[in-house]
Amino acid sequence: MTQQVPKDESSKERRPVDTGFPGIVLYPGYLGPAAQQALLAALLAGFEAAPPYRPRMPRTGQPWSIRQTNFGEFGWVSRPDGYFYSSTNDVNGRKWPAIPAVLLDIWAQVAHYPAPPECCLVNLYDTPKSRMGLHRDEDEEALDAPVVSISLGDTCLFRVGGFARSDKSKSFRLASGDVAVIGGASRLRYHGVDRVIPGSSGLVPGGGRINLTLRRVTKQDQ
Ligand code: SIN
Ligand code: MN
Repeated sequence: MTQQVPKDESSKERRPVDTGFPGIVLYPGYLGPAAQQALLAALLAGFEAAPPYRPRMPRTGQPWSIRQTNFGEFGWVSRPDGYFYSSTNDVNGRKWPAIPAVLLDIWAQVAHYPAPPECCLVNLYDTPKSRMGLHRDEDEEALDAPVVSISLGDTCLFRVGGFARSDKSKSFRLASGDVAVIGGASRLRYHGVDRVIPGSSGLVPGGGRINLTLRRVTKQDQ
């Protein structure tokens, strides 16, 4: 047992499992079915103000195999000249919707960080070909804060490697309701999504997987 989490009746399984990576803590079934439905409803409401869009890779302009949007003070965006945190949505020039309260609660329970998240990046794996190549989350100033990942819908194969792209890696499954905390000594490990298993969950209308990553962007006291 690496971390203590308050008991909650909505899900029987809030015990972390050992991933073999110091600093990566996985809570299988952290959100029970009702909590997953409530979170999905909050996300769908937020999508009205910030509809998911298909980003393009910097420089090549290649479209991604996923769609994205953001909640929070900052959104993570891909532009022709690189990746940025932006307080406005490039698609419509508006501020991003607020991070749903239920997500702030999850952060407060598992992040063990003294400030709230400032970004919730939403990744929608909406086709059988949707995936995410190995990368590091390194655009945040607050690298002392973990990234908290919440998965909804179809199960994926999540791959975690080392600190160089070619390092040995291993994959494990992230299912609907699972929460993973990626921090500490593993904060800058390469990771990605090999594939999503179609039809493995009935939660998301039309199928697919939604991943949310909560991020602290700025250092405290700025
Ligand atoms: C990410 O690395 O930003 C998302 C990972 C995931 O979809 O589980
Ligand atoms: Mn990432």
